[in-house]
Amino acid sequence: MIIVKKIKDWKSLRVSNSLKNKTLGFVPTMGALHRGHIELVKKSLSQNDITVVSIFVNPTQFNNKADLRNYPVTINSDIKILDELNVNYLFLPEYKELYPDDYKYKITETDFSKLLCGRFRPGHFDGVLTVVMKLFNIIKPDRAYFGEKDYQQLELIRGMVKNFFMDIKIISVPTVRDKDGLALSSRNLRLNAIQRKIAPKFPEILMSDLSIEQIKSRLVSEGFKVEYVEQIGDRRFAAVYLGKVRLIDNVKI
Ligand code: PAF
Repeated sequence: MIIVKKIKDWKSLRVSNSLKNKTLGFVPTMGALHRGHIELVKKSLSQNDITVVSIFVNPTQFNNKADLRNYPVTINSDIKILDELNVNYLFLPEYKELYPDDYKYKITETDFSKLLCGRFRPGHFDGVLTVVMKLFNIIKPDRAYFGEKDYQQLELIRGMVKNFFMDIKIISVPTVRDKDGLALSSRNLRLNAIQRKIAPKFPEILMSDLSIEQIKSRLVSEGFKVEYVEQIGDRRFAAVYLGKVRLIDNVKI
């Protein structure tokens, strides 16, 4: 696996003979890779000649400084995982490389991004859409891969690609869960042993046939702090806290 840190280096590679007439799949990540990311990578490897993964903990999507500080970083094991999967390129930029303007320019969606997670994390989706737009413009993939666990993010990225007429196919991959039902997330690394035991109650209660109000009170009685539980169309979305760790999930019902 070749590690590329500079945009100019990637740009020369992108037009070089080694990538000419090859399909390129792209998996953007913030690292701390788990089986959910691995599924995205495997899908890309199976559908494209070349797979590029990026790791960049994007500060503009964190509305809370402590959350950014505490975000898990496991770069050495991430590199090993990607190398063993036979990923072709890892794009590993620094902040200044991606944000030469220090975030003076941004992409904003004004409707769906204000609901669900957007209500509680102001500016979060501006940060996500902006960095994804930048990464798409740099990497120039044919296909890009996102997990359904971040369903709101996935829908907003689909909308951005459609409305900015970008020639990129967005491929979604179902949420990967641990054996006990907990959706895999880099943030799970921050749960202590007691919290990790309680955590699977979250998807279990969310998937039950209780009403939204009943779900909220069940979650509270199990020790979660509920940020929101909402149903939009045939999908139920929720965000909760266990201690300081924020967990999100969504299920089709
Ligand atoms: O889902 C994530 O890990 C991030 O939001 C993404 C898409 C890599 C943008 O920073």
